[in-house]
Amino acid sequence: MNCNVSIQCLPLYKRRAQSVGRNTQFHQIVLRSRFVIYIMLLTYIFPDVMLLRYIFPDDIIQSMPHDAHPMGVLVSAMSTLSIFHPDANPALRGQDIYNSKQVRDKQIVRILGKAPVIAAAAYLRMAGRPPVLPSNNLSYAENFLYMLDSLGNRSYKPNPRLARVVDILFILHAEHEMNCSTAAARHLASSGVDVYTAIAGAVGALYGPLHGGANEAVLRMLSEIASIDNIPEFIEGVKNRKRKMSGFGHRVYKNYDPRAKVIKKLAEEVFSIVGRDPLIEVAVALEKAALSDEYFVERKLYPNVDFYSGLIYRAIGFPTEFFPVLFAIPRMAGYLAHWRESLDDPDTKIMRPAQVYTGVWLRHYMSLQDRSPSTETDKFGQVSVSNATRRRLAGSGD
Ligand SMILES: CC(C)(COP(=O)(O)OP(=O)(O)OC[C@H]1O[C@@H](n2cnc3c(N)ncnc32)[C@H](O)[C@@H]1OP(=O)(O)O)[C@@H](O)C(=O)NCCC(=O)NCCS
Repeated sequence: MNCNVSIQCLPLYKRRAQSVGRNTQFHQIVLRSRFVIYIMLLTYIFPDVMLLRYIFPDDIIQSMPHDAHPMGVLVSAMSTLSIFHPDANPALRGQDIYNSKQVRDKQIVRILGKAPVIAAAAYLRMAGRPPVLPSNNLSYAENFLYMLDSLGNRSYKPNPRLARVVDILFILHAEHEMNCSTAAARHLASSGVDVYTAIAGAVGALYGPLHGGANEAVLRMLSEIASIDNIPEFIEGVKNRKRKMSGFGHRVYKNYDPRAKVIKKLAEEVFSIVGRDPLIEVAVALEKAALSDEYFVERKLYPNVDFYSGLIYRAIGFPTEFFPVLFAIPRMAGYLAHWRESLDDPDTKIMRPAQVYTGVWLRHYMSLQDRSPSTETDKFGQVSVSNATRRRLAGSGD
């Protein structure tokens, strides 16, 4: 697929990369830019305030189970937006509706504005706190922290250094080429479905533990290992294929993920403000042990973006199940940049990957009575029934 949107081939990035080198440019973006300016590179110039006036009907989030996973909440809330904005739905208003720049831009600003609001509402619901409206006077990252922590105090200001860390983490997660969830966004959008449904599908893909859920999996893994003494046994388990090492390996990076390097340094900044997380010692020792082990060296497995990000999130005080949400908020910018590009691409067609059929070439229809399972796996398994269902079935009534 031809594509101009990527952390590696961003238009501005590409132009400057010729003179300053790709790595220099990557670090310039991270160190000098702000998330909202980075969105500008991906899509348009947005004053923060434009993104901060959006809200989401809180009763929808309140109606979900109190212990709902916040990624489930985000997926559901995103697809709910499709219902709230029929005016922006090609199925209802015509397939050419997104040809209008005005309609398209409105949806981009809406999604970027609402994502942190939905995320904050999911967080507050988990914590049993009432929802907080966004503030108009803060930056994007500050405003997100403000919604989490202000407890309704309109003069509250988050710690600026922590807000800057969150801003850098947002930049690092905003876009990363044709990964699983971005491909999902493009795949759904290729059918002409509304952008909210396409983004909900992408966030669904991001939820998986091999993708955006990996930082959550890293923290669970580090907690399981618990002590440096247990590392050799854990590494043996990985090599014996009992489990994978979360936060290691990448389909594209066969060297150290440059984002992981930045995040490892950021961890020290965070610890200097909120205190050191004891699991960092386990993480550093695990990385060292893996990088000197033949299994990992041979396969070119290095820490990826998720290896250290979970530790930072935990140190800042986010619950583990919230980690993928912190990935999803900024990644909206990447999805939307791809969506926008796909709308303008004359080669865009409905996606329909080819399959290689390996089944029986020609067979005639056989009625159900005449069929018999050829293997155990063909048989329908036992579906377990709960005791509560047995109790209900034991009763009677008209
Ligand atoms: C990211 C990931 C899905 C990429 O998968 P992929 O490109 O399909 O790579 P493969 O699964 O083909 O891996 C190649 C080899 O390395 C091994 N491998 C890859 N990642 C591994 C890991 N994290 N731990 C242990 N072994 C790993 C595979 O078992 C395979 O070994 P083999 O050739 O002996 O069978 C994979 O590395 C992974 O599962 N990582 C852990 C999850 C994670 O951190 N995801 C976040 C990505 S940003």
